[in-house]
Amino acid sequence: MNFIKRVRYYDGLLADIKNLVSTNKVVHISDVPSSVDIDKFYIEMGDQLGMLFRKDVDPATRQLVHDSWTIVKYDVRYLHDTYKHSNKAQPLHTDYCNASIALDVVELICVEAAPFGGATIFMDSILLLELLKKFKPGLMKQLQDKEVIFGKAPHPLFRNTARVISYDDDGPLLYWNYAVVAPDNTPDVLQMCEEFHDFLESYVVRGGLCTPINLAPREGVFMQDKRILHGRNSFLGDRHLLKGGIATKDLEMVQEKVHKIFG
Ligand SMILES: [Fe+2]
Repeated sequence: MNFIKRVRYYDGLLADIKNLVSTNKVVHISDVPSSVDIDKFYIEMGDQLGMLFRKDVDPATRQLVHDSWTIVKYDVRYLHDTYKHSNKAQPLHTDYCNASIALDVVELICVEAAPFGGATIFMDSILLLELLKKFKPGLMKQLQDKEVIFGKAPHPLFRNTARVISYDDDGPLLYWNYAVVAPDNTPDVLQMCEEFHDFLESYVVRGGLCTPINLAPREGVFMQDKRILHGRNSFLGDRHLLKGGIATKDLEMVQEKVHKIFG
């Protein structure tokens, strides 16, 4: 499976997106003409891949908003609440490691690009595992063996247990987000998470080993959430992205679970 592919918009892209996303871990869509309704286009693309899950939490009321992209936007009022509204660098992570339904693909759409910085950065799981194998074999073994609870508190949707590194027929899978490692993990799991976080930030990110994509307005990326890690460079000025998660497998089961949680 290829790591990153840039695809310039063309008529018929909608019919090809499923194949593109299954053969590339990151698909960067560019040159979307101004005649295309961005909202409609990216919703149709998401629906083409499976079940597009669009729900956001209103930062002011903390209530769940249905049928809304997750808004990733610098907002000085909420910048200390979550990375979504901050302008600081965001460590490497997967978006939905804590989700109890399998949201395999993340869709990220640019409304406004930061004038300085703010690239989304990507690390291929294959390269990451090569680095761990060579330089941190003990840590790698732990990441394959120990289960981690993700999700700071019990939640019907955003709480999940997984090994950081696992494998399926298509290769390695990663479940990781340092920001949502549950405090009730065992001390040795918490220690492992600290060590992995330090390795990623000190050597992978600051080593310049990630591939940056500076999304321009109207551009989007579709990424296979668990086959890469992604993060963000810090930025100055305003920046506004939209995000959705897409379930691509076992859709009936996912639908049932979503119905049970949200009614
Ligand atoms: Fe993310």
